[in-house]
Amino acid sequence: MLNKFSCHTDIMFGQNASLSLSSKVKEMDLRHIGMIVDEGVALNTHVQKIITSFESDGSFQTNIFRSRAGSEPDYDYLDEVTAFFHDSVIDCIIGIGGGSACDLAKGVGIMLRNPGKGIDYRGFDKVNIPGVPVILIPTTAGTGTEATRTAVFTDKKEVRKLGINGKNVGSLLAVLDPMVLLDAPRIIKSGSALDALVHAIEAFACKNSNTLSKAIGKEAFGLLFNNLVKAIDDKGDIIAHENLFMGSHLAGIAMYNVGGGPASGISYPLGSHFKVPHGIAGGIFLPHVIRFNVEHGFLDYAELYDLIDGHKEGLTPEEKSLRFADKFQEFYCDTSAPLNLTGYGVSTKDIELLVSLTMQQRLENLKLNPVNFGENDVRYLLSKVIVA
Ligand SMILES: [Fe+2]
Repeated sequence: MLNKFSCHTDIMFGQNASLSLSSKVKEMDLRHIGMIVDEGVALNTHVQKIITSFESDGSFQTNIFRSRAGSEPDYDYLDEVTAFFHDSVIDCIIGIGGGSACDLAKGVGIMLRNPGKGIDYRGFDKVNIPGVPVILIPTTAGTGTEATRTAVFTDKKEVRKLGINGKNVGSLLAVLDPMVLLDAPRIIKSGSALDALVHAIEAFACKNSNTLSKAIGKEAFGLLFNNLVKAIDDKGDIIAHENLFMGSHLAGIAMYNVGGGPASGISYPLGSHFKVPHGIAGGIFLPHVIRFNVEHGFLDYAELYDLIDGHKEGLTPEEKSLRFADKFQEFYCDTSAPLNLTGYGVSTKDIELLVSLTMQQRLENLKLNPVNFGENDVRYLLSKVIVA
């Protein structure tokens, strides 16, 4: 099998890295800046400082759009936001916010240079003209969208999330600054990090995995697992927040290169049909997918166990993998993420719809699981998180 691996985004990272961005953008000779700022973080003190660093510098003309918070973007919204910038000179789009705002920025960058509507580019490798350069400042550590050639949008007509992917999609530069994450609510930190954990663990374990994705997925897992609870409990722990960003970025790289597994797959219909936030929609399955895989003979989790409980001498890979499943379950509870989907209005009567949507739309994710994972297994997984 031919193995391939790519990383294509430059990154700046570390405490206050985002406050150096205006100098960097000036060096790149980009002057007319379109900013897409997630409404949910627009008043965050550090985000305000970033915006001011551009507005107070006479070299730039800035045009700011505040994007709606709390819902993942659809193609109509992509067209609406593109129209906001369309009649202005724009050299560069800067997206500041969670995964939705970042994906929106990636999409708008494309649509400012390509004709037609956003939905025309749904699918793979349909963007022929490179877009306006896009720079991202993620304010959540989760999607890793800054590392991928994917921008996810919902097709409202088909009630399906299927993004714009492939060549000419992505960001030129991303800034990973822990200062924008410190004040995020607990559920945002944990929900986002669970998304990154899905990427890290499923990229590590999946059938496509190779030496690079295993190494990077493993490193990402260690950073996320060992720092999430610290970051939730102590908003002053800047190193823990920085490590979460690095973990989510690495997890994004790993997942983009080799793909995900069942947790990734089932998260899509839960997001499009029930508006379950993406991180929770995938993360809630992780403890169950891990246990399922161990019980069906997949023992590579032993390597991940060594990262979280020391190198326990004398344990077999099977013992380590079983302990890993237990430890991960405990960890999941410590994040305060929901244990079932009742709070999102999903009930047992919805299981069959979710099974059939997953089988129709995300079969490739199931095929990547390291042990066989079929329709009945999807049903089993759903029954673990959907209660009567
Ligand atoms: Fe994801």
